[in-house]
Amino acid sequence: MSQRVLVTGGAGFIGSNLASALAGHGDRVVVFDNLSRRGTERNLEWLRRSFPTHVEFVRGDVRDARAVEAAAQGVEGIFHLAGQVAVTTSVANPREDFEVNALGTLNVLEAARKAPGRVPVLFTSTNKVYGGLEGLQIVERDRYYALADGSPGVDEAWLLDFHSPYGCSKGCADQYVRDFYRIYHLPTVVFRMSCIYGPRQFGTEDQGWVAHFMISTALDSGLTIYGDGKQSRDILHVEDLVRAMLTAMDRIDQTAGRIYNIGGGPENRLSLLELLTDLDARIGRPLHPTFSDWRLGDQRVYVSDIRRARAEFGWAPRLGVREGLNHLWKWIVDHADEIRTARGGTEG
Ligand SMILES: NC(=O)c1ccc[n+]([C@@H]2O[C@H](COP(=O)([O-])OP(=O)(O)OC[C@H]3O[C@@H](n4cnc5c(N)ncnc54)[C@H](O)[C@@H]3O)[C@@H](O)[C@H]2O)c1
Repeated sequence: MSQRVLVTGGAGFIGSNLASALAGHGDRVVVFDNLSRRGTERNLEWLRRSFPTHVEFVRGDVRDARAVEAAAQGVEGIFHLAGQVAVTTSVANPREDFEVNALGTLNVLEAARKAPGRVPVLFTSTNKVYGGLEGLQIVERDRYYALADGSPGVDEAWLLDFHSPYGCSKGCADQYVRDFYRIYHLPTVVFRMSCIYGPRQFGTEDQGWVAHFMISTALDSGLTIYGDGKQSRDILHVEDLVRAMLTAMDRIDQTAGRIYNIGGGPENRLSLLELLTDLDARIGRPLHPTFSDWRLGDQRVYVSDIRRARAEFGWAPRLGVREGLNHLWKWIVDHADEIRTARGGTEG
């Protein structure tokens, strides 16, 4: 049955992929976004072109409670993705980061609570809420750091330890979302996401490293690696993430009040150096990145334990690293001009 749903941050990377999937299923999607992120106009244009009758755009800011409330009128579900997304930016401007991520989320929750019929909310949190993961056993190999052999990854019971203003603002929002279920019985679900990659991500040095590395290679615009390049993450293709989001919302009776770590899991761990090797092969010559100091608070390795999502709503990733990277590379090559424009014409 088709529904009317609100996607905050719907013109962003994940948001536009999600909005496209929802509209493709026949839902009417309200895209609420302030278009502050580079490339969002392009994503919006693409959505409107693809689904002229099913996508409605509201230009607004999640810090504006009234605007959020108005956008939430008459919707049957809210995917709350709008956010300040870069750790580096949060360090430069912690107040703005707090207002967008923490206060913005409270505004969304209040809009859902006041709406008739207790509108379900899915919130995109982050693995950064687990902080430095002290005590996690790490092994160092030639080209990557990994968790000890056989480790299923970091589960949802891991101690919360917010690092960086971004970690704090997202962590604060994460806990509000959970608490609105406890206190107001609002059906909410939290996804603590690892590294997501895929088409429509105009990754920059500050956020979206897989896309950033691939785009910089395709446009021949140079790369810097902060640290030794062995840091690794379990990466997840956006198509798999979107399927998880839709399934968790469809099964909100089971998922309400729950928190899920969502990523590629132990089978889809990738380091920066391993991605470089992949890119060398794609372009047929070795890349020569510049190396610089470690970034503050950069985790050596993060791998999500995704068993709870599998057990509770039957989700697991389908696209492995190789297939997922091939998919993104093809999108980048096919859209090089659009990407160059979206990145402000500074590439290549
Ligand atoms: N991409 C990842 O790997 C990843 C990992 C963990 C968590 N997340 C979370 O997922 C969500 C989506 O991330 P993304 O990668 O698509 O990032 P993105 O930057 O592409 O999308 C965020 C969107 O929010 C919009 N936005 C920013 N501030 C806003 C405001 N004040 N009001 C309204 N809209 C605003 C931006 O214009 C953008 O369209 C974010 O909340 C992010 O923290 C992403």
